[in-house]
Amino acid sequence: MTRQIRAAITGTGSYLPSKVLTNADLEKMVDTSDEWITRRTGIKERRVAAEDECTSTMAVEAARRACDSAGIDPSELDLIACATISPDTLCPASACYVQRDLGAKNAAVFDLSAACSGFVYCLTIARRFIETGQCKNCLIIGAETLSRFTDYTDRGSCILFGDGAGAVVLQAVEDNSRGVKYTVMHADGNGWDYIWTPAGGSKLPASHKTVDDRLHFLKMRGRDVYKFAIEKMQWLLEDCMKACNLSNDDVDLVVPHQVNIRIIKSATEKLNFPLEKVYVNIDKYGNTSAASIPIALDEAIRSGKVGRGSTILLIAFGAGLTWAGAVVEL
Ligand code: UT7
Repeated sequence: MTRQIRAAITGTGSYLPSKVLTNADLEKMVDTSDEWITRRTGIKERRVAAEDECTSTMAVEAARRACDSAGIDPSELDLIACATISPDTLCPASACYVQRDLGAKNAAVFDLSAACSGFVYCLTIARRFIETGQCKNCLIIGAETLSRFTDYTDRGSCILFGDGAGAVVLQAVEDNSRGVKYTVMHADGNGWDYIWTPAGGSKLPASHKTVDDRLHFLKMRGRDVYKFAIEKMQWLLEDCMKACNLSNDDVDLVVPHQVNIRIIKSATEKLNFPLEKVYVNIDKYGNTSAASIPIALDEAIRSGKVGRGSTILLIAFGAGLTWAGAVVEL
């Protein structure tokens, strides 16, 4: 068999800020209840960044842990891709701060904005850079400080979001038995207003009025996102398994975007996919957008739920609208 260059996940890391925001805390801020949030979303608590933390600082912590677990020095990285919709600054990219703080002086860097699908989008791009020989060692990060863009007077959205970061090291290997086997990405810009931040960009720059009107916070059409998410999660599961000729038995773990436990259950039940093989940590961290999959993957690997030889599926959907999936042999 000819040996191809494959892009393998060789290290993972994550970072969650220590401050916890519980449903009981939210009860004091908006008209909601622990019972409602738990029943409708599965979330019990989420993390919130400290004042001196932001997207790049959390990303750096996750990245250090990923590099340590891969046994690689940051100076060996040739690409850093950071998926985020809550960057430190509009310019430059958060990945620039990450590169500086890691001392990854040989890495090209960029941020990617595809919301909750951002991490899988970055994985897809980095995979191709590796397979074509352009890169050998890539760092892919999903990091979000959504608390800075969450309207804590809007009970329809503030109950969902949390902060955190996850990272993976993707390396070139000449081993056909492992690596990223399949990736798929899609988008539909007609759904731009399902989840969006109206102000602060070139369309509606910051002004006293945009601040007064609370237009720098994420706005969401929750019910519409809900329906879209179930449909796309189901589609991604089916597409990934079909593309790699996998049955439910062949898949060791699905790591979905941590969106809402009802969405995850509904989509997997329709396909008779067992919930025991779906990684869920939404109860602890809520929805951390691009960070949710790499955080969950890191937990799944460190807890021994999956490891070398496991076949995993990563599936995500989010603002844009965007959706993306991957099949990886660890
Ligand atoms: O990564 C993508 C980011 N987006 C998402 O993850 C959102 C996906 N969507 C969802 O998770 C769900 O749509 C929500 C959790 C946001 C809402 O759950 P739902 O079952 O779709 O509720 P709903 O919007 O249909 O609202 C049902 C009722 C409404 O009251 P009425 O009109 O029936 O009297 C809402 O006003 O629940 C009310 N409600 C709340 N009640 C207590 C909405 N938010 C809350 C709340 N606490 N936090």
